[in-house]
Amino acid sequence: MVKVDLKGCSTFVNEAEYKNYVGKALDAFDTLQAENGAGNDFLGWKSLPVDTPDSLISDSEAIRDDWKARGVDLAVVIGIGGSYLGARCAIEALSHQFVRPEGSIQVVFAGNNLSEDYLAELMDLVERSNVACVVISKSGTTTEPAVAFRIVKEYLENKYGKSEAAVRTVAITDAKRGALKTLATQEGYRTFVVPDNVGGRYSVLTPVGILPIVLAGFDMRAMLKGAADERAELLVKGEENAAVKYAAMRNLLYSEQGKKVEVLVNYNPKFQYLGEWWKQLYGESEGKDQKGIFPASVNFTTDLHSVGQFIQEGDRVMFETVVNVEKAQRSVVIGSDAQNLDQLNYLAGKHVEHCNAMAALGTKLAHIDGGVPQIEISIEKIDEYNLGAIFYFFEFACGVSAYLLGVNPFNQPGVEAYKKNMFALLRKPGYEAQTEEILKRI
Ligand code: PA5
Repeated sequence: MVKVDLKGCSTFVNEAEYKNYVGKALDAFDTLQAENGAGNDFLGWKSLPVDTPDSLISDSEAIRDDWKARGVDLAVVIGIGGSYLGARCAIEALSHQFVRPEGSIQVVFAGNNLSEDYLAELMDLVERSNVACVVISKSGTTTEPAVAFRIVKEYLENKYGKSEAAVRTVAITDAKRGALKTLATQEGYRTFVVPDNVGGRYSVLTPVGILPIVLAGFDMRAMLKGAADERAELLVKGEENAAVKYAAMRNLLYSEQGKKVEVLVNYNPKFQYLGEWWKQLYGESEGKDQKGIFPASVNFTTDLHSVGQFIQEGDRVMFETVVNVEKAQRSVVIGSDAQNLDQLNYLAGKHVEHCNAMAALGTKLAHIDGGVPQIEISIEKIDEYNLGAIFYFFEFACGVSAYLLGVNPFNQPGVEAYKKNMFALLRKPGYEAQTEEILKRI
């Protein structure tokens, strides 16, 4: 289960101050549990670990098996924001970093940017593969995935013919609304529904995450079990509740210590996309009404040789939240060398992970000395079960933290601003007046 250790903050905050914020976090916890706070029509994620029907997993497995029987070796998963980051995080964390298992389906992501080079290079891979596609958009109207899907759809239809292309396409979208829903119905695609009461960034345990994760060969049942066990722990109200502790401390550091930036730290490259998923979850949930902690992420020890300098000695605006993985899954021991030319014999017989742990401890002490408080969040190992637990932990803690901060965790009004300008500049029908206005400004 997820553990939260606040000892790395003890020299920065006093007990009374912390107790005060725990009180505020417990009030926010009550709001989340009473379901009477802002955005309370988007709380479906809370019970997903216990009320997701197994048929969503078995239907996903049936699609995977059907596609494998057709020889599919590449699935292009198209989506942006909450419609891809959870699945990408899980797949990057669980996959071998260099070797794809024989007979597995490679999952790649598209529709999360508008780069022509990205799409062209993706199509280079598509052209040498046996391809299927999953297109995900809750609203069914988002431009980035729509553009990518138009291109992949045309390719599939030209290569396999219209009816085989339809069998190789799954749409995950709203039950009734949106262009993607209309298109999927018209073309006869298999579809899954994104529940109305679950927002994009809280949707990793819906078909948005389930289908891509199952296609990549991972165990969604174990992930839901981890989330369910974590949920059971988080439902117990009290000062020791991990979400309450995390929400209380991060808001204290933000409001009382001027720590406007939270840096999520990992010491395992498999967790790079945990940082990306977490940034979206917290950034979109809390950054509004001119408030919020700016979520950043780093990969250590890699980034100790880059932004580590800033964290140690730059502007004192940040605190760190370190995601600590207690056990490595594999074993690599450093050997002894008779000549010792590299002078590394003092490490002979040690596991590489021991060096990683000592780097983490040394960094923790140095950063605390440098004025950077540290929250530590631990899981036992990187597997489906623990990923389910950490997904649920961060979602639940985000709800508590945003209510403590006094913002609606479940809306994202700010993401519309760029879209209006982009549509006007692209001369989308209906935006003529804005086009006129905008052209005067540039
Ligand atoms: O968390 C959110 O709600 C957003 O990040 C959405 O997931 C993102 O904008 C994609 O939206 P949609 O699934 O409607 O295409």
